[in-house]
Amino acid sequence: MPITSAPGKIILFGEHAVVYGQPAVALAVDLRLKCRIYFSEDFLVNGWKISRSINPYISAAIDKVWRGPPLSIYTESSIPSGSGLGSSAAVSVALTAGLMHMRGGFTEREVAELAFEVESEVQGRASPIDTSVSSHGYGIFIDRKKGEDFLWMIERDTLRWYIHHIPIEKMTFVIGYTGIHAPTGPLVEKVRTKVERDEAARTIIEEIGSISEEGLRALRCGDTVKLGDLMNRNHELLSSLGVSSNALEKLVRASRPYAYGAKLTGAGGGGSMIALTDTPDRVCDAIKSAGGEPIIARAGAEGVRIEQI
Ligand code: PMV
Repeated sequence: MPITSAPGKIILFGEHAVVYGQPAVALAVDLRLKCRIYFSEDFLVNGWKISRSINPYISAAIDKVWRGPPLSIYTESSIPSGSGLGSSAAVSVALTAGLMHMRGGFTEREVAELAFEVESEVQGRASPIDTSVSSHGYGIFIDRKKGEDFLWMIERDTLRWYIHHIPIEKMTFVIGYTGIHAPTGPLVEKVRTKVERDEAARTIIEEIGSISEEGLRALRCGDTVKLGDLMNRNHELLSSLGVSSNALEKLVRASRPYAYGAKLTGAGGGGSMIALTDTPDRVCDAIKSAGGEPIIARAGAEGVRIEQI
């Protein structure tokens, strides 16, 4: 029976704006979720009877991909769940790949498409950023058009997301987890209400899209100082959209003196922030003193893979 694994992620630029088709940059990190699948008498998750409310992503992935006998699924993860680091995408991706492997095989693109359907079903409105970066790994740039290093396109309703590979050097970030679980759905909804009502919010969404484009250029030429400035600007715009929180602000402020830049990552509300730094230990200390949980993460990790057949 297969063991598969998939990485967590950080969003470097463009969260929330990507839901409206704006460009975004996400990087896979060296935190992984492993998934083991066995045949069984009943559908089980980590030894317990599967429950749609407790295991929504696993239930949705089984519904979409599996047509065979009951399975027992075990997950093991170094990605804190509900932290904005893509744990739900990693479980959807790793399980989808395992189930497809049992049915004959998979490609990264197929896994990314199906896992996006799983996430959309559970979360409502979503972009394919988390599931695509967890499938492909390394770094991805999402754009409205096809460009250099194109991987695949994902569409829903009237929106099309063109996913591209970003050839990145290994980079070190410090993640600061607030310890506050903040579900993505309500935050996406909060932004949607603002965007529908308020011209200023629509302008912010577009500005975030331009930052992602500049960020891609800075990544390609390894301009760390520029990347840090853009992260700071992106954070201010996300705060204006109302998706930051006191805990996130505290961690961002505490890490900035020792970092090129710092911003919230993912949906916000609680979850995590990231800092780009040459002195990770100092940022870790600053995050701890400000009440957060630091995690040193290397970006550019491999995407979904079979660990064992
Ligand atoms: O909460 P996370 O880390 O999975 O990030 C969600 C990113 C959003 O742009 C807010 C939503 C989305 O689906 O793109």
